[in-house]
Amino acid sequence: MAPTPSFHPTSFVYPDDFRAQWHPTNPDLACVANAVSLLMPYAEPYVVRSVKATIDRLDDPLQSEARAYVRQEGQHHAQHRRFNDLVVERFPTLRHNERAMAWTYRWLEQRTSTGFGVAFAAGFETVAYAAARWVEARRSTLLTGADPVARDLFLWHLAEEVEHKSVAHDVHEALEGGRVRYLGAMTLSAMLLGFFAFLNALTILVVTGRILNPFAHLRLLWWSITFLFELVPAMVISALPGHHPSDLVDPLFYSQWLAQQRDSH
Ligand SMILES: [Fe+2]
Ligand SMILES: [Fe+2]
Repeated sequence: MAPTPSFHPTSFVYPDDFRAQWHPTNPDLACVANAVSLLMPYAEPYVVRSVKATIDRLDDPLQSEARAYVRQEGQHHAQHRRFNDLVVERFPTLRHNERAMAWTYRWLEQRTSTGFGVAFAAGFETVAYAAARWVEARRSTLLTGADPVARDLFLWHLAEEVEHKSVAHDVHEALEGGRVRYLGAMTLSAMLLGFFAFLNALTILVVTGRILNPFAHLRLLWWSITFLFELVPAMVISALPGHHPSDLVDPLFYSQWLAQQRDSH
């Protein structure tokens, strides 16, 4: 499905006493979600600028879809920036991680071609789609009891990731980027996300003291394993010749949730 404009993202208003550990009954979920959120203001701008740089070379309808994609992704990392500021204010050690992420994605952008950046964006979308599927399958257990604003930020982002899952792939194909480049860029994209999400989660576990809790370790290990079972098949299938992201079935929950939000705003 072609992406449509984001619903009013300014509706993410956090209370003055917003807690960075926004899931009282499932603090490890907040830890992992925060760890991934911290990446967004660094990974997504690279993806956005890569696709944006190609827009003039695209024909409609892909050109319009790419413009909508850039707008959606731009809103995502802007909203995560606002959210992350609250998290980093609570856990200032994370500023070191932010510097490392900023340096890494800046280095990547300076050293690679636009074509590689678009392949990276297409791979990034595959990872995001796997994350959306993983969350959707566990949404009632994971999200019950969560702070509603933080919960909606993540659901909104995942829902729009599912909605625009094909756009970067189609841009990559239009530029004749090829499967080998896609495979390399997707692997790098997934490895960087995995590495920094791990580093951020570890930092949060240390500063909150949950590093001493064996159940936190077991939970995070289980989530990592089950996520890999979602991610690896999606990556393999997406690298096959002739594959199109629309071949993958969308979890219905997100389109319904997004339609509800857009109707009510
Ligand atoms: Fe996004
Ligand atoms: Fe995306």
